[in-house]
Amino acid sequence: MTDRSPPTLPRDFVDALLYSKRLVVLTGAGVSAESGLPTFRQAQIGLWSRYDPQELATPQAFVANPRLVWEWYAWRRQLITEASPNPAHQALADLQQLVPALTLITQNVDGLHQQAGSSDVIELHGNIGRTICSRERTVVDAWPVTEEFPPLCPDCQAPLRPDVVWFGESLPSGAVNAAVDATATCDLFLSIGTSALIHPAADLAHIAQHRGALVAELNAEPTPLTRHADFALQGQAGVLLPELIDYFR
Ligand code: OAD
Repeated sequence: MTDRSPPTLPRDFVDALLYSKRLVVLTGAGVSAESGLPTFRQAQIGLWSRYDPQELATPQAFVANPRLVWEWYAWRRQLITEASPNPAHQALADLQQLVPALTLITQNVDGLHQQAGSSDVIELHGNIGRTICSRERTVVDAWPVTEEFPPLCPDCQAPLRPDVVWFGESLPSGAVNAAVDATATCDLFLSIGTSALIHPAADLAHIAQHRGALVAELNAEPTPLTRHADFALQGQAGVLLPELIDYFR
């Protein structure tokens, strides 16, 4: 048995996790930060630092400048193909095997939870790896090689777009319903790596607490949720989550 320094997580939080029968986890961009992917409210890196995501991820921006929006997402897709799941993603995939029931809800569109082995992930904001027709919203797996961007739908010639939720757009109703159903019946809700600013995702922790669940926040900095949470752990998800898993060993 290796000699591990005793973990430092609050005992009542660890007990709530060890005895949880229905666990819900909500993740945000902070969980993918240690995979090298920029978060939304951290300054954008490199070429795109002069653009605000909230100005690019909108239907209006796509109509006004479809090529710019398409290329911004192509840049983000490239970052994601170069990224791998980090210890936070891996710990959540392991946790799903260690507890009776874990529903993972993510705001992230990078697919890294699935790559790490998490199953039945609820993607509230879609997935950048999927492309859809901007008119029919059907998934398009392939299109003719083209020099024009965005490429056009092979069926109706409308521009193609990433299958992600833009500001001002409604979230996929199936994902929202599944997220709310799981949240309303959980006994412990973990909010991890999210600024808790964007609704309806930011409402879930309050729904859980209103229905009697304990709420824990694991985040690098305080958020509007912090003062409401039953447990607030400040730190890196890639450090806190593997430490949490150690309690199951
Ligand atoms: P944000 O960038 O708003 O927040 C990320 C949070 O993660 C911040 O509070 C950071 O302090 C924290 N953080 C950063 N690195 C961390 C680490 N290694 N470990 C733990 N926490 C860390 O991203 P989200 O909250 O995910 O929506 O943003 C929510 C939504 O706003 C996104 O899904 C996107 C954005 O607009 C759409 O695109 C529709």
